[in-house]
Amino acid sequence: MIDIDQYLEEKRNIVNLALKKRLPQSGPPKILDAMNYSLEAGGKRLRPILTLAVADTLDCKSNSIIDIACALEFVHTYSLIHDDLPAMDNSNLRRGKPTCHRVYGDAVAVLAGDALLTHAFEILSRYGQKEGYAEKSVKIIAELSSASGVTGMIGGQILDLESEGKALTFDQVERLSVMKTGALLRAAVVCGAIASDAGSEQLKILGSYAGDIGTAFQITDDLLDLEGSREELGKPVGADQERYKPNYPSVLGPENARKKAVMLYEQAVISISTLDQPAELLIELAKKLIFRNK
Ligand code: IPE
Ligand code: IPE
Ligand code: MG
Ligand code: MG
Ligand code: MG
Repeated sequence: MIDIDQYLEEKRNIVNLALKKRLPQSGPPKILDAMNYSLEAGGKRLRPILTLAVADTLDCKSNSIIDIACALEFVHTYSLIHDDLPAMDNSNLRRGKPTCHRVYGDAVAVLAGDALLTHAFEILSRYGQKEGYAEKSVKIIAELSSASGVTGMIGGQILDLESEGKALTFDQVERLSVMKTGALLRAAVVCGAIASDAGSEQLKILGSYAGDIGTAFQITDDLLDLEGSREELGKPVGADQERYKPNYPSVLGPENARKKAVMLYEQAVISISTLDQPAELLIELAKKLIFRNK
């Protein structure tokens, strides 16, 4: 039986150390400080941990998997810095601290986000320069860039901005959330699988698991915005209602949104159980991701 809390803590420590080591070591101090500020502020590190958990499940022996995990967290942290900007969600608190733009100003926050994003791809390219990794790295870069770009996170963020003050249908909320949040979570799983030399059947199963937990993750984020605590979350609550943003609880009602998250969890368990490898770790991780209070 896996002690998932212990696993999460162990991997979080590994990821935190690795992120610190992989931050650019030279450059103008202001931008390095701002990048470091948002990264070090904390965060659950769920995307890099998903990558590592997929590698553990597929028995990947390569130490370089941590490069992929870090790239995911760099992209995610950049997305949060930009998401919080006054021109976007205009948020003043992230990971329990004042947001990047509140400390460094809007211009530096924009650049810190840009720098984290580009740095993620530098890390992946350097991973690809290691012997035998060139082909995998190209596939991973393709996955992560499309998950972060207009067909993924950026596309979802645009739909999210355009949705403010509008009455969206369930399908529109679903599309928006699959893109803005689901795509990057899916990339965390799929990139971990590619780095672990997964075959097409394994990729299919893991992709379907990741799709379900990605959607459920955003349902929980929306529910926590409604019912969570600012102290626990380290970010403001009620932000969606304040900006008249349609989300899962607003289109389904909180009870049905919760039921949908449970249903997606069960569906993820069913898909992942068809892997040849034992799936307990990924099942326990899905549970943590979906049924969380922060
Ligand atoms: C928050 O992500 C933003 C969404 C995509 C919903 P997380 O809840 O993973 O945030 P951190 O990384 O723990 O701060
Ligand atoms: C953000 O969604 C998704 C991103 C791509 C960053 P939200 O705007 O709901 O995330 P929070 O609630 O601010 O963390
Ligand atoms: Mg947002
Ligand atoms: Mg936001
Ligand atoms: Mg939110």
